[in-house]
Amino acid sequence: MAQTTLSHIRASRRTNNIVYAVRDIVTLAQEVAKTGKEMLYLNIGDPNKFDFATPPHLIEAVLKAMRDNHNGYSPSSGIPAAVKAITAEAEAHGISNIHDVFVTSGGSEAIEICLTALVDPGDNVLIPYPGYPLYEAVLAKLEAVANPYFLDESSGWQPDVEDIRGRIDAKTRAIVLINPNNPTGVVYERETLRRLLALAAEKGLVVFADEIYDKMILDDHEHVSIASLDKEAPVVTFNGLSKGFLAPGWRIGWGVVSGNGAILKDYVAAINKILRARLCASHPMQHAIPAALRGEKAFIDQCREKLRRRRDITHEMLNSVAGISCVRPQAAFYAFARLEIKGSDEDFVKELIRETGVVAVHGSGFGEKPGTKHLRVVFLPPEDVLRKAYANLLEFVGKSRGKGSR
Ligand SMILES: Cc1ncc(COP(=O)(O)O)c(C=O)c1O
Repeated sequence: MAQTTLSHIRASRRTNNIVYAVRDIVTLAQEVAKTGKEMLYLNIGDPNKFDFATPPHLIEAVLKAMRDNHNGYSPSSGIPAAVKAITAEAEAHGISNIHDVFVTSGGSEAIEICLTALVDPGDNVLIPYPGYPLYEAVLAKLEAVANPYFLDESSGWQPDVEDIRGRIDAKTRAIVLINPNNPTGVVYERETLRRLLALAAEKGLVVFADEIYDKMILDDHEHVSIASLDKEAPVVTFNGLSKGFLAPGWRIGWGVVSGNGAILKDYVAAINKILRARLCASHPMQHAIPAALRGEKAFIDQCREKLRRRRDITHEMLNSVAGISCVRPQAAFYAFARLEIKGSDEDFVKELIRETGVVAVHGSGFGEKPGTKHLRVVFLPPEDVLRKAYANLLEFVGKSRGKGSR
């Protein structure tokens, strides 16, 4: 190469505020693992890393699709059989007035596309604190503003509708509801959803209903799809194969747009422009969607049974010593435990990883009320691993409080 001075490659400003605590913490865990310490991972919500496996009928459907050479691009919104199955599933949840259904690379891509098609720089979107950090990362990329509302720990992490009302301004475009919630495991009550929907309608907001954990209700709580409560309200409901169908690595998700067709027309057109520009979701994997939604679902009950026991161990152990407490998760596989410590929860988690090998994620990575500190654990690991990890954690909490330094 000729003698030239190479220039530094500057990264875009829009990446400055992108944070994803769930994976960011892994870098430290990897360093600690290199020292030979036994690591106990309670940080990533991936069932397939533990004793959960993708059901065989989904795998067969994908293998058949590949053998039948469905290996080219698919229509941008997804193969018709998948779109039909998703529409039928949404209708079975009481959602009507459906204007668009599209298959994406995970629920994540549906969320990103729907935010991109909605907000301009400076617009804001109401997002739950605590909540799943992807929303904030995407909004940062779009130079839009995350407008947090706090879930209320004292009412078992239900959203506080009047508090949300006070946070809406002229630039608020949408509200994100994660129900069941990651990281708290709460399932929202029907009446709360009804009030939220009325507020969204009054203020002209789109509702983003992230229902990716709706198959994983652990007790007999009712799960209500918010879009089913009013057929005129503009709602995008997200779901996918990652959690309920135990195939997160396949990257298959979807969005369902419902509500008043006239007010949604331009928005749906904008979503479809982006869908076309990115071609399509993985084609053979889409063939698992009809198999998943129409096929046998006994495996979901088995999965919930395991999770129920793991949730009970989690809830019991995390409430067994002073300095840590936890609202009982009603769904999904996360618990968001409160810490009574002096320093930050991020420092606590880093120290926990270094000293005990237990990898959990600090509450501030999901958003939390100022002055409160938390820790999110994933209770997917088998019972013996959970017991060991919690024993280490509880001992560490005790020591930390004893030292009075945290
Ligand atoms: C609330 C929530 N929404 C969306 C996603 C992303 O799901 P997917 O794997 O379908 O992209 C996750 C993943 O953990 C999640 O917890």
